[in-house]
Order: sequence, then structure tokens, then C-alpha cells
Amino acid sequence: MKKPTPDEIGHGYDAFADLLDRLWGENLHHGYWNDASEDVSVDEAADRLTDRLAGLLTIEPGDRLLDLGCGIGEPAMRLAAAHKIEVVGVSISRRQVERANDRAVAAGLADRLSFQLADAMDLPFPDGSFDLVWALESLHHMPDRGHVLAQAARVLRPGGRVAIGDFMLLPSADGYEAGAARVAEASKGVLSVISLDDYLSLIRAAGLEPGPTEDVSRYTRPSWDKAAERFAALREQAVPHIGAEQFDLTLSRFHAFSAEPSLGYALLTARKPA
Ligand SMILES: C[S@@+](CC[C@H](N)C(=O)[O-])C[C@H]1O[C@@H](n2cnc3c(N)ncnc32)[C@H](O)[C@@H]1O
Repeated sequence: MKKPTPDEIGHGYDAFADLLDRLWGENLHHGYWNDASEDVSVDEAADRLTDRLAGLLTIEPGDRLLDLGCGIGEPAMRLAAAHKIEVVGVSISRRQVERANDRAVAAGLADRLSFQLADAMDLPFPDGSFDLVWALESLHHMPDRGHVLAQAARVLRPGGRVAIGDFMLLPSADGYEAGAARVAEASKGVLSVISLDDYLSLIRAAGLEPGPTEDVSRYTRPSWDKAAERFAALREQAVPHIGAEQFDLTLSRFHAFSAEPSLGYALLTARKPA
């Protein structure tokens, strides 16, 4: 299945920004729930996932972090405020970059936070210019995870660290291949997933050493049903934008992903050798 190009992904995020705001809030990523019935809001659960990933990393005050696929900047702002670090975020969506910069100014964090339009496949930064690279739920969109990891390794200083939150392929009764094909088909190529072992191989091939890793699949899975619930409530606003057919298809995808045993979620870290 052909993946959308980075430009197509960027235009998609630009075109549906208002809808995405209403669907996901300020964090454009999954939440972390101890169980599906836990009474925690989507926003709080999303912040929890950010914190969970940050907890796997050593973050020192003054560090310079590159956020690959920064959305409208919420995880970057949370990290900058909590750890007193400098953050540069990149997104392939022009509108997201504008909004992220406006939000940083409004939060009084613009001296340490900046966002720019760039393709993570071709990073416009010198070698060794960051202490940390962060990619929360963005690598699945990109044409080649291995290439992006190599870019991350290039812009990191020796001893620098990487944190990734991403969908992954879980073993299922009919095997990895069948699961990957079902996920790709249901998402029309937007969600390409690989197993944890394959992920670790890509990390090593990029010249990085894998660090602490967590399978959080059962804690993020409730996000699909919560997204379906929110999306269903947005029918009136969404249909004029995307049409009834596309609306029903998207809603059915959320339900399909929620029930898909092959679709998991991993938090991964890595380090560039010193
Ligand atoms: C699901 S959103 C996650 C946003 C953010 N990390 C968050 O957690 O709120 C995916 C992000 O990846 C970005 N993205 C996708 N492909 C990209 C690429 N090739 N280069 C840079 N950003 C990309 C999108 O523009 C979007 O900001």
C-alpha cells in the first residue's frame, strides 16, 4: 500500500486542523490509561503518555531537544517547562508550526521554544547540534523510519539520547504479516507498523544503542474508543468538511483499530555512542 508523501501528510494536517483540535485537543497523540474504565480525561491521559516517555530519558536542564513531528507544540511546551530545556520543533504542517510558535509566545516560553517547517527525512540542522531527539507518534507517518533514525543520529551529539513513541506490530494468531496488512489496509497506508524487534534493528542500523523500552499497548488502546466517541459527537461539524461517506469510514477505522490485536504501541529510547 502506497504511503502518503510528507507533503500530502502536511496538507492533510493543515486542512483538518480545526477538526483535529476538537478530536484530540492540544496533544495530537494517544493517552495512557491504567484501564479503559479509569476516570481520566483525554487531555490528562495524553499528558501522562508524554511524561511516561520523558521518564525513560535522562533530561538535564539546559539540554537542547529536537522534536520531530511537533504537532501544535504541546509536548514540547510541557517538556520545556518541566525540565528547563530548549526545544526546536519541526512539523511538515505549516499551520501547525505557526500555531506552535504563537502558543509558545502566549505561554512566555518563546525564548526557549521555536518551531519550523521541515521534513524530518531531510533535517536542516548541523551534525551534533542536539542533546536529545524526541518523536512522539510521528514516525509512523514518515516514508522511511530507518532514514529518519539515521537523520536523528546525525544531528545528535555523541552521548545524545532519542525518545520515540510509536505504533508497533504485535504478534497475532495469524502472524505478523497478516496483521501488518490488515492495519495498512484499514488506514489506507497511513499507519505502517513494524514489530519491536524490527524497530530495535533499525535503531542499531542507524548507529544508535537501544535503551529502556516499554510496550504500552494495553494502556494506550482505550484511546481508539475514546477518539471514536469524540468523533461521533462531531458528526455535524465534520460532515460538511469531509462528507458523510468519509466520516463513516473514519469512525469505522477507529473501531477497527480498537479491536485490532496486531496494533500496539511502544515507547523506545536509544543513545548515540559517546
Ligand atoms: C500524530 S501528530 C503528533 C504531533 C505531536 N508529536 C504530538 O504528540 O502532539 C504527527 C506529527 O508528525 C508530523 N509529521 C509527519 N510527517 C512528517 C515529516 N516527514 N516531517 C516532519 N513532521 C512530520 C505531522 O505534521 C504532525 O505534527
